[in-house]
Amino acid sequence: MYICICNPFTDTDVRNHLDTTKKSARVKDVYAACSGGSEINCGTCVNELKTMVDTHNNARTIEGISQKMNDVTEKNKETV
Ligand code: FES
Repeated sequence: MYICICNPFTDTDVRNHLDTTKKSARVKDVYAACSGGSEINCGTCVNELKTMVDTHNNARTIEGISQKMNDVTEKNKETV
């Protein structure tokens, strides 16, 4: 499905880009990457793009917290 029609790219393009991004992403950067460096034109696509980026960033946050909890658990096992 097309996310942006001004500088055409699809939801698959966005997911593929986000899958290669291991850290939190910004809408502006994702837009530039998926549009080939173009700037946002009409802005109609921004809400959908923001939702996808927020989902990605939330997942990275949960991964980070989970990793820290695992690290603490392992450290606690070593001290017991
Ligand atoms: S639809 Fe994306 S800038 Fe217009």
